[in-house]
Amino acid sequence: MSEPLTIALNRGRILDEFLPLLAASGIEPDEPMADSRRLVFDSKCGRARLVVMRGADVPTYVAYGAADIGITGKDTLLESDGDGLYDRMGLGSARCRISSAAPVGAVFPAGRLRIATKFVNVAKRYYAEQGRQVEVIRLSGAMEIAPLMGLADLIVDIVDTGNTLRANGLEALDTIAHISTRVIINRASLKMRFVEVEALLDSLRAAVDARAGPDGGA
Ligand code: PRP
Repeated sequence: MSEPLTIALNRGRILDEFLPLLAASGIEPDEPMADSRRLVFDSKCGRARLVVMRGADVPTYVAYGAADIGITGKDTLLESDGDGLYDRMGLGSARCRISSAAPVGAVFPAGRLRIATKFVNVAKRYYAEQGRQVEVIRLSGAMEIAPLMGLADLIVDIVDTGNTLRANGLEALDTIAHISTRVIINRASLKMRFVEVEALLDSLRAAVDARAGPDGGA
């Protein structure tokens, strides 16, 4: 058998939702991931090696070819430069959006807005397209605090249910991007291991369709 395909997996909700699709495609870790501190798992079938990491690192591993395939959110892809990889398919899971948000009823200064976010590239691109002068301040989490503390006028962050915004007295403003889980492939791997990669994509597609059901999950 040839070398296993290396699949980089975004830990957390994306991983939890992806494992059943992977199992339906005939790939299961050699030990239950939920109970383990390990980060690298062989698959029982020997076709894949599964590596668990933070979402923002998945595009990096795939772009450099350290992983053949990556499973991560569109948000991390939008934030990466996208070199060296193909965004090949959506899994329809972990749907949410990147939005701007501010304290309810906030009045903004006429000049340069200050935006706090971990999506620095997304925010810069969006406000440049809008023709707005902004200063983007990089934070690594808990963005909701920034307007409350006077650090920024607005935040740019993931919004799912909107509960976190509401709990902190903020409201969503512009929807900047719709997000869901994507399958990305290293460019060289897609050429060199075309048959194996396409076979895996086909079985994932079938698993996604089966999960959605005959009505497409509507
Ligand atoms: C994200 C985001 C918000 C929250 C939004 O955080 O940063 O805080 O989810 O979800 P809601 O609209 O359903 O309340 P996450 O839990 O992913 O952790 P993070 O701070 O590491 O991004």
